[in-house]
Amino acid sequence: MPGPLRGRDLLSIKDLSREEIELVLDTARIMKTRYYSGERIIPVLKGKTVALIFEKPSTRTRVSMEVAVAQLGGYPLYLRRDELQLARGEPIKDTARVLSRYVDAIAARVYSHKSLEELAAYSSVPVINMLSDLEHPLQALADVLTIKEKKGSVKGVKIVYVGDARNNVAHSLMLAVAKLGGHIVLASPKELRPREDILQAAIQAANESGGLVELIEDPFEAVKGADVVYTDVWVSMGEEAQAEEKRRLLKNYQVNEKLMSLANNNAIFMHCLPAHRGEEVTEEVIEGPWSVVWDQAENRLHAQKAVLALILSD
Ligand code: CP
Ligand code: NVA
Repeated sequence: MPGPLRGRDLLSIKDLSREEIELVLDTARIMKTRYYSGERIIPVLKGKTVALIFEKPSTRTRVSMEVAVAQLGGYPLYLRRDELQLARGEPIKDTARVLSRYVDAIAARVYSHKSLEELAAYSSVPVINMLSDLEHPLQALADVLTIKEKKGSVKGVKIVYVGDARNNVAHSLMLAVAKLGGHIVLASPKELRPREDILQAAIQAANESGGLVELIEDPFEAVKGADVVYTDVWVSMGEEAQAEEKRRLLKNYQVNEKLMSLANNNAIFMHCLPAHRGEEVTEEVIEGPWSVVWDQAENRLHAQKAVLALILSD
């Protein structure tokens, strides 16, 4: 019998129920354990091709997706947008239908979430979000996997996201934590609060799971009692024109030793990376005893292997 994710798109964490997120996490743990036992290849994608379209730069997502498909016995096809006819004006809807005739899934990193929705509407194969302006669901799945590993659970854990709470990483993390019954606090200036519809979806998910979503302006107040302190860049890809304004709004939201000292004694520090030392985080914190950022980055691979296997394997 095919699993619940077989043949599905993954554009948003909203697309997944709590049970489905748990299934991804359980599968990721199995993938990771088997990998460390020496089983490098689990060939559930044998004979299958996954197109990986990138409109923006990437280190972790590109490499971990290519390696994930290869370790599942499939073929990853890396496609830069500027090398496709898309760059010369071929419509997304035409690209979607043509690629669907060649590949078994399409993963894409795009500027506008609408591009992903159009890709999904016209593709006959599953479409996976590798980051848009709205969400970064593969990141959030690796993040909750990491929190479970480090803290034993997401339920009942206090996770404080400090910084730009209106970006892709904050949105997906908030949704994932809320679905799993965690306590997510977003510490940001009023101007950078989450988008209202995504916030409402997270609040509803938290009401159903026994979790909690809070918005707090003061970062020092927010991190009190935190088990996890999380941040992301102040200026996301594609926001270069607003860089000065965002740096001005976020200047008091740096994760430094003073801020970490207010969190719980055994608190961990997380960052999706790439990090800008001296802006959203200091060298002392990212290189310090709190930091789990390398384990977090590694978990991208295991979580994505789980997602790909659940969506694509027979
Ligand atoms: N965290 C993340 O998605 O990193 P990349 O931009 O390097 O893929
Ligand atoms: N918010 C960041 C995440 C990078 C992985 C960006 O969109 O640039």
